[in-house]
Amino acid sequence: MVHPQPGKAAWWIKGSYTDEEIAQLEAWDREHYWLQSHQAADIVAPGGEHIMTRGEGIYIYDVRGKKYIDGMAGLFLKNIGHGRPEVAQAVAEQMTTLAYSSSGATSTVPAILLSKKISDLTEGALTRTFFCGGGAEAVDISLKMAKQYQAITGNHGKTKVISRRLAYHGSTYAALSIGNRGRNTQGVFEPLMPQVFQVDPPYCYRCPWGQGHSPTDCCMLSVKALENVILGEGPETIAAFIATPVASGNQIPPDEYWPAVRALCDKHNIVLIADEVICGFGRLGAWFGMERFGVQPDIMTIAKALTGGELPVGAVVASKKVAQAFDNTKGPLGQFQHGVTYGGHPVVMAAALKNIEIMEREDLVGNSLRMGNHLQQQAVNILQENHPTVGYVGGGLGLLMGIEIVKDRKTKERFPGGSNGEFAKRFTEIVRENGLFTRAGDVITLSPPLTITKTQVDDIIAILDMSLTQVEKEYRAR
Ligand SMILES: Cc1ncc(COP(=O)(O)O)c(C=O)c1O
Repeated sequence: MVHPQPGKAAWWIKGSYTDEEIAQLEAWDREHYWLQSHQAADIVAPGGEHIMTRGEGIYIYDVRGKKYIDGMAGLFLKNIGHGRPEVAQAVAEQMTTLAYSSSGATSTVPAILLSKKISDLTEGALTRTFFCGGGAEAVDISLKMAKQYQAITGNHGKTKVISRRLAYHGSTYAALSIGNRGRNTQGVFEPLMPQVFQVDPPYCYRCPWGQGHSPTDCCMLSVKALENVILGEGPETIAAFIATPVASGNQIPPDEYWPAVRALCDKHNIVLIADEVICGFGRLGAWFGMERFGVQPDIMTIAKALTGGELPVGAVVASKKVAQAFDNTKGPLGQFQHGVTYGGHPVVMAAALKNIEIMEREDLVGNSLRMGNHLQQQAVNILQENHPTVGYVGGGLGLLMGIEIVKDRKTKERFPGGSNGEFAKRFTEIVRENGLFTRAGDVITLSPPLTITKTQVDDIIAILDMSLTQVEKEYRAR
């Protein structure tokens, strides 16, 4: 059993753990810790548990001391990499000076400085930030903000929301309602939020309108689908359209998509909400994903890498137009109808301020762009070139990549079971055995820390090259 050690505050942190301690931890893990997005049966296979103990740079280490490249930067958030004592120090200083002050009645110095910094990073396009505790919460808040904005600007009938199919915006009810229904709801959480309409995304490799369309055609069909819903429902009923700048590494929209969507929203007075929970803070080689497409949203949601994953956070950032509409409204409706206990928590604000300082000092956004290009080149030249199972390498916009794995390149047929099938499980296991911690099922997801070097990118490619060879051999043998 792991015991308190005299004089050690975090007594559970040890240089190494005995076999007995590991067995105990694994047993309690299975019994008491509710793993998210997995079923216990998925992890209780021998070696199935991954109890992580330490992180340094782009690497994480498990309880047995095995080292992995953190291929997804935790969950798209450890953009500054692991082990940043500077953030810990800023957090400790803030915590021992002022650890809480209600954002319902007060501001704090780090909250004000962070709000100003976020506005500066958008080059003044978005000016006011509402802080909360996580990404899905931010998404919920953004929808409420858009609806209230429409009401206070005289558009009481604009209450409907349009989102995209296959999307993921989080697990709260509203986020679930605008996301990938079916897969995420399993038919047990209905009825979902009413008045949500969904359109197909510009997923050009697997074009929702069938094979044979060029990416540009697929993209414009997606814009047309949006227009059809707006016109079908009536523009006077639509409050907002919400989507991620890039849905995932394998769904990079062509350049025409976002400007066309922006124009539609302008034409019909629809609030454009960009969910930047993954794309924000350098992931796409720009501070925010929409910058890559030259488009400014009216509202954006951010979370994850705002604190570099050091502390939980979420936020909704509004344009001056939206913020001023609230300022200019007298009476109760001028007050945004939302409040959360942990919004603007000074300790979290401190982590975010220090995180952004590090990102700027080390030019991590520029590194994301450079290393993203290198990753793309290597994935195409080595993985796509050598492996028949690599159907498509999606990336080239910073350090977000989705590699489509197929049974048949021509038909784009997936291995049975898709992301939950036997192939996906085995392939993920092989990749992890070879030292890369990521999801590798029907899509290999890559979003490493933005601190990554060229040699480390090459290491990721070498591990994937080896793992693909291995899995292709195993699956050909069957
Ligand atoms: C695009 C997007 N929006 C929202 C969320 C939800 O964020 P959280 O898990 O912090 O609630 C996620 C989570 O991965 C996400 O990818």
